[in-house]
Amino acid sequence: MSQNDFAPKLLAWYATCGRHELPWRQHITPYRVWVSEIMLQQTQVVTVLPYYQRFMEHFPDVSALTAAPLDAVLGLWSGLGYYARARNLHRSARVICEQYNGRLPLDREALCALPGIGRSTAGAILSLAAGQREAILDGNVKRVLCRYHAIEGWPGTARVLRQLWLLAEGHTPQRQVADYTQAIMDLGATLCTRHQPDCERCPLGANCLARAEGRTQQLPASRPRRKLPLRNKAFLFLRRKDGAIFLQRRPPAGIWGGLWSVPECALAAEAEGWCLEQTGHTPVAIHRLEPVLHTFTHFKLEMAPVLMELGSASRVMEGEGALWYKHGQMRAPGLPTPVARLLAQLQENSS
Ligand code: ADE
Repeated sequence: MSQNDFAPKLLAWYATCGRHELPWRQHITPYRVWVSEIMLQQTQVVTVLPYYQRFMEHFPDVSALTAAPLDAVLGLWSGLGYYARARNLHRSARVICEQYNGRLPLDREALCALPGIGRSTAGAILSLAAGQREAILDGNVKRVLCRYHAIEGWPGTARVLRQLWLLAEGHTPQRQVADYTQAIMDLGATLCTRHQPDCERCPLGANCLARAEGRTQQLPASRPRRKLPLRNKAFLFLRRKDGAIFLQRRPPAGIWGGLWSVPECALAAEAEGWCLEQTGHTPVAIHRLEPVLHTFTHFKLEMAPVLMELGSASRVMEGEGALWYKHGQMRAPGLPTPVARLLAQLQENSS
């Protein structure tokens, strides 16, 4: 078997079976590719599509993104998750304006110095938008390579990663690099999928070691299981008589950094005292709602929502970083998905 078959076979397959119509594959610019690659980190194409279209309508280029307040960017990101990506995109846009005259630097080192861009994302931008011979190694590519070469071990370890980068570089062709990069991502997303790879149709199937050994289900090896610690928090939904709910902006760092959310306290039993202290009034009614479990990368959070109805006008709780949110009356601020769901649920129950 010749290693050199890899790229030609993939390219031939891509010509007829690739996803050529994806929006970031039209009117290709480094900016459009960059935004798409950031959105596609840990997120599937179908989920990204509407967010990408909207983002591009609002921020068609680096200068539009730079000029926008972070809140507007987070608002358009709301629901896509991993909000550090949006904050990094915004910060990077400012650096690109200040240091590079508004054009993305087409150089691996310079790109990797921007917040949120690692080696694989830099490789994707450089190969897809500038045709440079740079390798990529995202989740899809790791899976394809682990199977094709029957690589043992979890791809998150430094040892396996080193091995995979060497293979990724070795397979990247001298020419048609952009098509090759698209092709290997498409293969991983459409045929060499995690659970049901379609080896019959795979252009690399004839030489794939995992297939030959009947081990496509075992490769790549999964991340060693860790039991995530469980944390609990009460989420306090203060509702005014007009239906508006009190929101605060979260600190810029940490979970849901920069997004808007409701106040929290350690225990649902402390909610009433919290309300008196913060608003000067005890709530006229308190309802404890069904807890919601949300999984983060490093822990699980049991959110215990407490709805508190305020009878009289509260002490002024507006100003920088605080607002009363009334569904449908203003553009939705950037909200974490589980908080947005709870707000929608409250809205439904009260209408
Ligand atoms: N996943 C990461 N980058 C992608 C791209 N450009 N097209 C499709 N899926 C991707």
